[in-house]
Amino acid sequence: MGRVPQPTPDVVAHRGASAHRAEHTRAAYELALEQGADALECDIRVSRDGHLVCVHDRRIDRTSSGRGVVSELTVAAMSALDFGGWHREFPESADDLLRPPPDNSEHGVLTLDELLGLVRDTARDVRLFIETKHPVRYGGLVEHKLVALLARHGLAAPVDREKSQVLMMSFSQSAVRRFRKAAPRIPTVLLFDRFRSGWRSGELPPWADLAGPDIRLLRRDPDFVARAAASGRDTYCWTVDDPADVALCHRAGVRFVATNSPAATRVHLAES
Ligand code: G3P
Ligand code: CA
Repeated sequence: MGRVPQPTPDVVAHRGASAHRAEHTRAAYELALEQGADALECDIRVSRDGHLVCVHDRRIDRTSSGRGVVSELTVAAMSALDFGGWHREFPESADDLLRPPPDNSEHGVLTLDELLGLVRDTARDVRLFIETKHPVRYGGLVEHKLVALLARHGLAAPVDREKSQVLMMSFSQSAVRRFRKAAPRIPTVLLFDRFRSGWRSGELPPWADLAGPDIRLLRRDPDFVARAAASGRDTYCWTVDDPADVALCHRAGVRFVATNSPAATRVHLAES
C-alpha cells in the first residue's frame, strides 16, 4: 500500500537566496522573498558594541572585504565593508557567460534589527528562523539580546505559538533551554547532525518544539519524521537543495525545508 500523501513543506531561504546572492545580505533576502520563500533563515552573532548582526562564521573574512572576529568589531566598522562582492553567482545559461559579471557589492553588515524590519515591511506573512551562534562562550548574551530585540519589535510573546512569526534555533541544548525560559511563547528548533540519547525515537527534550535534523540523517532514516510527529514535533530539515532530497522531505512529511535556492526548491516540490 502506498503512503498517505503529505502536505507540501514550507520553503525556508537558508541565509537568504544564498545560491544566487551573497549570504545574509539584504539582496539575498529580497531575492528570497521575490522567489516566494515562505520563511527566511539567518545566523546571528553579537558585535563588539552589543548589536546582533547576521553573520554565520566567527570571523568576517570569508564573507566580506575585511578581516577579524565579529565580537571584536563594531557595527560601524562592519558597515564600512563590502559583504557582497566576494559572491560569484553560478551562470544559469550560456548567455550569462557572455555578460560581464554582475556587481554584487553590498556595503555594510546586515543587522538583525534591519532584517526584522524587512520581514515586517513584507506585504505577505513571512516567518523568520533565527539561529544563535557562539552561545557557549557568551553564556546567554546572544539569547538575552535576542529576546530584548524581539520584544522591541512586538514579537516576543505571540498569542498563538503556532502562528509565531519568529522561531529560535540552535545546536546548543543550553541555548535553546535558556531561550525557552526567557521567551516561553516563541517556538524553538533543536538543530542536530547526529542523534543523541533517545532522540532517534522522536522523543526530544520538552523545551524543543521542532526537530531540526541535518538532511544526511533523514537520507538514512526518513521515518524519523513520522516518529517525531508521533511525539508532537514537526520537523525542520537543512540544507535541502538536491531534487532527490527535496522529494524525500516531501514524502517523509517534513514541515519546513531550508534551502539555498527557494525558487528551484519550489519547482522540485511541485514535481515530487
Ligand atoms: O538551518 C540550520 C543550518 O543553517 C545549520 O547549519 O552551519 O548552515 O548554520 P549552518
Ligand atoms: Ca544557520
